[in-house]
Amino acid sequence: MQDFKTYKEFYNYSIENPEAFWKEQASKLNWHSFPKQILSKDAKGYPQWFADGQLNMSALCLDQHVSDGYGSQTAIIYDSPVTDTLRKITYGKLQEQVSKFAGSLRKLGLSKGDTAIIYMPMIPETVVAMLACARIGVIHSVVFGGFAPHELAIRIDDCSPKAIITASCGIEIQKIVPYKPFVDRAVEEAKSKPEHIIVYQREHGPKAQMKATDLDFMALLEGGVATDPVPLESTHPLYILYTSGTTGTPKGIQRDTGGYATAMKFSMGAVYGVEPGDVYWAASDVGWVVGHSYIVYGPLINRNTTVLFEGKPVKTPDAGTFWRVISQHKVKVMFTAPTAIRAIKKEDPDGRFIKSLDMSSLKYQFLAGERCDAATLNWLQEKLGVPVIDHWWQTESGWAMLANMAGIELLPVKPGSASFPVCGYDIRILGPDGTELGPNEEGLVSVKLPMPPGTLTDLWNNSTRFQKSYFDQFAGYYSTGDGGYKDEDGYYFITGRVDDIINVAGHRLSTAEMEEVVAAHPAVAECAVIGVADDLKGQIPMAIIVMKTASALSTAEIQAEIVRDIRNTIGPVASLKKVVPVKRLPKTRSGKTLRKLLRAIAEKAELKIPSTIDDVDIIGEVQEVFGTAGVH
Ligand code: COA
Ligand code: AMP
Repeated sequence: MQDFKTYKEFYNYSIENPEAFWKEQASKLNWHSFPKQILSKDAKGYPQWFADGQLNMSALCLDQHVSDGYGSQTAIIYDSPVTDTLRKITYGKLQEQVSKFAGSLRKLGLSKGDTAIIYMPMIPETVVAMLACARIGVIHSVVFGGFAPHELAIRIDDCSPKAIITASCGIEIQKIVPYKPFVDRAVEEAKSKPEHIIVYQREHGPKAQMKATDLDFMALLEGGVATDPVPLESTHPLYILYTSGTTGTPKGIQRDTGGYATAMKFSMGAVYGVEPGDVYWAASDVGWVVGHSYIVYGPLINRNTTVLFEGKPVKTPDAGTFWRVISQHKVKVMFTAPTAIRAIKKEDPDGRFIKSLDMSSLKYQFLAGERCDAATLNWLQEKLGVPVIDHWWQTESGWAMLANMAGIELLPVKPGSASFPVCGYDIRILGPDGTELGPNEEGLVSVKLPMPPGTLTDLWNNSTRFQKSYFDQFAGYYSTGDGGYKDEDGYYFITGRVDDIINVAGHRLSTAEMEEVVAAHPAVAECAVIGVADDLKGQIPMAIIVMKTASALSTAEIQAEIVRDIRNTIGPVASLKKVVPVKRLPKTRSGKTLRKLLRAIAEKAELKIPSTIDDVDIIGEVQEVFGTAGVH
């Protein structure tokens, strides 16, 4: 490839010559067998990368570096203010643990193509479990700890894991969240029964109650026979990661091995601008896509030192904790969600903590997960004195689709914009009829096929939904579900979801799923769950309910029960705290609830009354409730 100097040259080459571009990026990895087919079509007719290559993710993340002589380099810095622990694990040690744990998994009968659910907190053993699965071709599905047993049960039934790997508890600031009882409840509820439950007993918090058949994580790790990585087809699924869709059932995003490995290696250098050996920190959770890509696989494949942080941006112990971690571990590039920065800014508006520390190691601060308001970005940039880069992506893409590609050419930051398409992503703004829109015209953000390596390859067990959700709207395009526009300078702005997905503190949630829970309450006749703007979390869910006429419960009791039901069924992460009773819901003449209108009323925004509305008087009724009920 020619030696491109500018982002524009590099990007254009990636779009005009995708095979040559990605072949070169793939050649930077050590494959068991380098692919001859670079871009082809899978059985569904969907573009696929490196179909006949063979490799192993765990080998690339560990063995490669150890055999290159970097066994004593720190792979993971586990920094846990909630347990007052700091532990460093070298690549050599991590390889030893992963290979032994993989040996035990194999002895338990897990092999290539089996699935395993990992429901664990932010501890190094979670990374060991993920890489051990990858080592022997077991497809892992990590489930975020903030989800309740019912959500876990849905995922168990969808991917039928042979094993569930869990821990005694998670620690949320000072609260102990017992994980093992949640797993027991989920297994009880699920129809599919895993053969093995493996439990890591944490030093902190109470020990989990073990059943006779439960297995101890550390005993398996210590007693395991070191096992070599298994060569896997490039298309072999590395993992399934469930994410919210527009129905009550989450989608199992399926990721391949070879395309993802290539994208991870490429993005660490080209997007984040880090070199092997640098310290890199994504302050997210392994249960989300950011954790998969930029706590585990990206940094490890690139031989970085990754920070595994078990804490919050505030209260663990204070709003200076992020800056302390950067300063103490000499983090070069950090990645978090705007919500976290808003939380810090609220507690330390003058940035006193930043000023008190040596932050000279930090080169770039990246933000993603939700829209970043210009005020938050400007505040952070001013306090840190380094470029603050908003970038946009999704669980489906697995890595950034829009970014300021710091490793290639850092272009001026425009607050509110996630900058430009990343190499390989041909991003177009389309109107409802599929025609491309001009500058500053808002439309549907779509990606012209083929997408680059690393993006989703299917939905687990549901190729029909895969096609329908992402490719049916516009032939030849992937539909992102986000709205946005491009300005006259080519900067892209993401304005928000065009569907019923909401983003609460950087966590993606489905209002349809919440509606199912609210509607199931015996006192509720009908309901709508909407996302409303929130200063801290970006959005928070609100349930608007019409109650049945006769109920033995008071309104306050019904409201409290609904909040409890959401917490128990979906999980505390849903953060549904507001339940507003109204007499009737505004609907179209065909009976569809006008959620956008409800949202505008709740946010006291300007109302655009649709011509399809059935009864315009309902608007006044609902407004009265919001005006008088003190909802804001
Ligand atoms: N396990 C168990 N429970 C969890 C959990 C986990 N891994 N993560 C969150 N929860 C619980 C919390 O304890 C809380 O429960 P509560 O209602 O009993 O207090 C609830 O879920 C909501 O948690 P959270 O969304 O973290 O809100 P918060 O009010 O406790 O904290 C912030 C607010 C802004 C500090 C926090 O949301 C935050 O750090 N956001 C950034 C998130 C992020 O990095 N997202 C990136 C994804 S890319
Ligand atoms: P998730 O799949 O959980 O990563 O959530 C993806 C969704 O979060 C996207 O479809 C967007 O709606 C939103 N999102 C993520 N990053 C950004 C960003 N930088 N700007 C605006 N929205 C974002």
